[in-house]
Amino acid sequence: MTLADNRERAVPHDPDNLLDRLSRESTLEAHYRYLTARERSLLADRLGVSGGDVLSVGAGWHPGRQLFPAPAFRLVAVDSDPERVEGVARLGRADEAHLGYAGRLDFPPASFDVVLYRLVLHHIAYQGPLGPCFADAARLLKPGGVMVAIEPGLWHPVGLGLALANRSGLATAVHGTPDDIPLSPRRLLADAAAAGLDPELHAVTYTWRRLPPAVQRALAPLDALGSRPRAARFGHTLMLIARRPR
Ligand SMILES: C[S@@+](CC[C@H](N)C(=O)[O-])C[C@H]1O[C@@H](n2cnc3c(N)ncnc32)[C@H](O)[C@@H]1O
Repeated sequence: MTLADNRERAVPHDPDNLLDRLSRESTLEAHYRYLTARERSLLADRLGVSGGDVLSVGAGWHPGRQLFPAPAFRLVAVDSDPERVEGVARLGRADEAHLGYAGRLDFPPASFDVVLYRLVLHHIAYQGPLGPCFADAARLLKPGGVMVAIEPGLWHPVGLGLALANRSGLATAVHGTPDDIPLSPRRLLADAAAAGLDPELHAVTYTWRRLPPAVQRALAPLDALGSRPRAARFGHTLMLIARRPR
């Protein structure tokens, strides 16, 4: 099977998995609201871009309007799943929506102020190397533009557990899919630097959406440490902010 075949193959999700059986919808939703607030706050502090063109790669059903509101930001969504592209266009969740594959996008060079990979690189890591995604971002960003990646980290205990489940062949039984690959913070920083970007890393949160709400609330104050370089690497959810030099 070639990389392209692999990219175009949908990875099935088994809804009858252990963690989904144990997790309550209200807990997941509360965590999602908290995560979005943390993402917004980090971007407000660190993005340094207050408007312009955003390319959301692997946009899914939610291309990122919650982080890049109109009219300041113009949002272009790309996804490899035609149903999601059609849905995003129909629901007006982005200004444009296109079918496309991360790492082989053909927009003109230097056409975006922000390239967003939100919860997508850890799926692409299952399909092949991430280098082409970073190279795409570096090519498509204007000078001073920023790549933002928001992904699960490997060095958090949950990331290590997930990596173990993947390795032992239990991933689908435990959480429904084999294609969630937590990413090494060191590798994210190195891949960004290799593409010519200037990277910084933040922990969005140390909490995990499946923990009981009281435990999540108890852990949340730790997130205030998430922008310290040493502490950032151990986040459950990481945010890479990688700027193209001017
Ligand atoms: C977990 S969803 C994330 C959606 C959205 N970014 C968000 O924050 O909710 C991952 C998305 O990546 C898309 N995807 C997976 N592999 C891709 C690839 N090689 N190129 C483009 N999109 C891809 C999937 O179709 C899916 O919509």
